[in-house]
Amino acid sequence: MRSPFHLSGGPMRAEHDHVLSFLRRGDARELLAAGPIPVDLEDVDPRVSRAARRIWGTRMIHEHQSAAVFARLLPQLMACGAPLDFQTTAMRMAADELHHGALCKSVVEAFGGDAPTPPTVATRPLPEHEDADPLEGTFRNVLFVSCLAETIAVAFTTEEREQTEHPWVRAVIGQISADEVLHARFGWAFVKEVAPELSTEARDRTSRWLRLAFAYLEREEMLEVPDVTPPSEGLRREALSVGVCDNQQTRALFYETVREVIVPGLEAVGLAAERAWQRRRNALS
Ligand SMILES: [Fe+2]
Ligand SMILES: [Fe+2]
Repeated sequence: MRSPFHLSGGPMRAEHDHVLSFLRRGDARELLAAGPIPVDLEDVDPRVSRAARRIWGTRMIHEHQSAAVFARLLPQLMACGAPLDFQTTAMRMAADELHHGALCKSVVEAFGGDAPTPPTVATRPLPEHEDADPLEGTFRNVLFVSCLAETIAVAFTTEEREQTEHPWVRAVIGQISADEVLHARFGWAFVKEVAPELSTEARDRTSRWLRLAFAYLEREEMLEVPDVTPPSEGLRREALSVGVCDNQQTRALFYETVREVIVPGLEAVGLAAERAWQRRRNALS
């Protein structure tokens, strides 16, 4: 099976390049358009190179899944009568995630590796929420994807961008981080718009569902950053400079972001988020 991010030499290639030209953001626009800058492997400890290839390869696979998530949100947004701007933005975000996947692949290659072949290129459907009507179900899916997962992604990538020095890796993280800001804002704007339309019962049901959402989020995020400490301060710094995070720092940032950004944001739209976070334990069993 080929990598999901290979390009054809056919007639759609020019259209693809055109789409990328308007998806690129910020200072790194020209650098990204010019193409990857290889990492000088002589300058990098082999343990750091291996970690970089593994981490950026895993990210590539996650970005592939994220593209499918936003693409699948479109029919849900249509079915619940979401404003058109939310629908077009969802399509932009699906394109952003495909772009991110290709950028992650380019980082693996910059470290002299081959992009991994995912175990499957099949993607997962979005949850159905049988106890909810289309509006409430879409509300929960947008809340999970954007207000939880993407808000965490903003915190992580903002931190990583600050510490990354290699110009290509820094440009890639800068692009991803800027896009994730939009992806999170999308969710916060949607829940603010829709929450007043939900009945008290729907808000209560969603607050109860939040326990499961928080438990799932915590489990998935922690799996990505196992509880290990870098072997030395020198290696920790070197890893950070090429976009390999310090797991302890990232774990702490996860809990800080949930407590200081996500929980208060959801409380502000009338959800019992504090209580759901406190009671998330055992929600998955
Ligand atoms: Fe992404
Ligand atoms: Fe995203």
